[in-house]
Amino acid sequence: MDASVASAAISLAAAAGGGTLLFRQLFDADTGTFTYLLADVLSRQGVLIDSVFEQHSRDLALIQELGIELVASLDTHAHADHVTGSWLMHEATGCAIGLAAAARAENVTRPLQHDDRVAFGTRFMDVRSTPGHTDGCISFVLDDQSMAFTGDALLVRGCGRCDFQQGDAHILWRSITEQIFSLPDACLLYPGHDYNGRTVSSVAEEKAFNARLGGAATERDFVGHMQNMKLPHPHKIAEALPANMRSGKPRQTEASSAWAPVQRSYAGLPELAPAWVAAHLPDFTILDVRSPEELQGPDGHISGSLNIPLPQLEQRRQEIPNNKPLVVVCHSGSRSALATQQLLKEGITTIANLRGGLRRWSDEGYPLAGSGAL
Ligand SMILES: [Fe+2]
Repeated sequence: MDASVASAAISLAAAAGGGTLLFRQLFDADTGTFTYLLADVLSRQGVLIDSVFEQHSRDLALIQELGIELVASLDTHAHADHVTGSWLMHEATGCAIGLAAAARAENVTRPLQHDDRVAFGTRFMDVRSTPGHTDGCISFVLDDQSMAFTGDALLVRGCGRCDFQQGDAHILWRSITEQIFSLPDACLLYPGHDYNGRTVSSVAEEKAFNARLGGAATERDFVGHMQNMKLPHPHKIAEALPANMRSGKPRQTEASSAWAPVQRSYAGLPELAPAWVAAHLPDFTILDVRSPEELQGPDGHISGSLNIPLPQLEQRRQEIPNNKPLVVVCHSGSRSALATQQLLKEGITTIANLRGGLRRWSDEGYPLAGSGAL
């Protein structure tokens, strides 16, 4: 562990609410995906389940702040709706990448089978094979069977679709009834997704109320329901599936650009973290693409920045000096992302978007000239 992080390490027991197991449920609003962090307080070893590529910095920051030694980044299956953050986490922490061997994905260092055990410190997860949504779905059951992480096999009052990725409703029925409903009634169930604000359920609840297979539903009822859902394909499937078959390893690895520790978002946008920009401010031209009114308004601006509003960028391109790398900023990082793309196309190579825009810059405590209420 980095010494500065270690020295700042807080009591993990306190972070865990006084218990012996730290548990965090994280959420990616864009894809409705839950990511779970569990850590053994005694040893500080932990596992991450179903991370999201775009949330890597968030997850890594949490792991480092809490001083957790990540043993493995696990996925319940090869997702079709988001790219896993496992490869990034492996690169950042050296953790194992765990996925069902049946998924046959690249870069997996810990291929998992039914009945495998993933240990973290004094705790462990049991692996249960729960195919049907995909043929490589697994669920993770905590050692004392108080919690299970079911991925998309079983969702709160629902379940994953069975109409692609070798899905099969008959197989999913067996997985859920034999592998999940066989857990104690009081076992809490944590799903891979939810789009309606539901975060957790229990075996007893799902047995009673799951609309598709709870109550008196039979296998025939369930299969009939699943075969008639006619869902549109997830909009990210074309990028997500191939990327997940590489465990989330980006196609081109931008290991480190010579001029700055630029990170690429999965969309391919070069980004710099506020902390790095703040520490090297004189080395850059800061291009602010907001309107002059916003620049002079209460949000403030980075001192010395060059203001060219996004709609004028094409005509005023010559005003950008070419003696320094460029960091493009706006309020949230969205207009500046567009400007960065535009300037990349025009051949500027030493350029990056300020991640999270001026809002994050300000949230992280970096100075803004003329700032009022931000
Ligand atoms: Fe899925």
